[in-house]
Amino acid sequence: MLRIGVLVSGGGTNLQALIDAVSSGRITNAEIAVVVSNNAGAFALKRAEKHGIEALCISPKDYACREQFHEALLSALVSRNLDLIVLAGCLVAIPPEMVQAFPMKIINIHPSLIPSFCGRGYYGLRVHEKVLERGVKITGATVHFVDEGTDTGPIILQKAVEVQPFDTPEILQRRVMEQAEWIILPEAVNLIANGRLMMTDGHVWTKEKDA
Ligand code: GRF
Repeated sequence: MLRIGVLVSGGGTNLQALIDAVSSGRITNAEIAVVVSNNAGAFALKRAEKHGIEALCISPKDYACREQFHEALLSALVSRNLDLIVLAGCLVAIPPEMVQAFPMKIINIHPSLIPSFCGRGYYGLRVHEKVLERGVKITGATVHFVDEGTDTGPIILQKAVEVQPFDTPEILQRRVMEQAEWIILPEAVNLIANGRLMMTDGHVWTKEKDA
């Protein structure tokens, strides 16, 4: 059974997609052990509590400096014996110590087709604003492993979504969530949990070998 920690900052619709997929059996061999938010008001925490999942707020505001916040976050995650950390709308920049503590065990959902519209400054609605500004006709979402860069880790799954005439960033964001994010994030977790994620060199991801 893969023990998952989910890091969130906001509404938590991607977290909900994971909770629903575990309940319905679209994700097997995995349990969500803890949900951590940097923001006490995140609705995602309520979603976790409603489903009997441990919900924690670890906010930078409660620590004297960034290092202490990072230490608290890391020790909360390490102490829960997690096999996988899912960043599901997590707006905290993941510190290198956390990547080193969980190598190839942190995945992120990004709302564009990486390597387009990603990197520093590309988060939330801003991604969709830039997509519309550039006028591309296809966008989508990407699930990838987290390394020490921003949106640079190995790609796990991608799904394309059409941009429509008269889209606003909000309308496009919703379509990308519905048609891509809420589908590929649970799918990626299920592949990992069941030892079916094939890496680009052909070997299958395992928590022992890839860490
Ligand atoms: C999603 O668009 C996700 O791709 C991005 O932040 C948003 C989070 O939405 N990283 P939610 O909190 O899962 O509803």
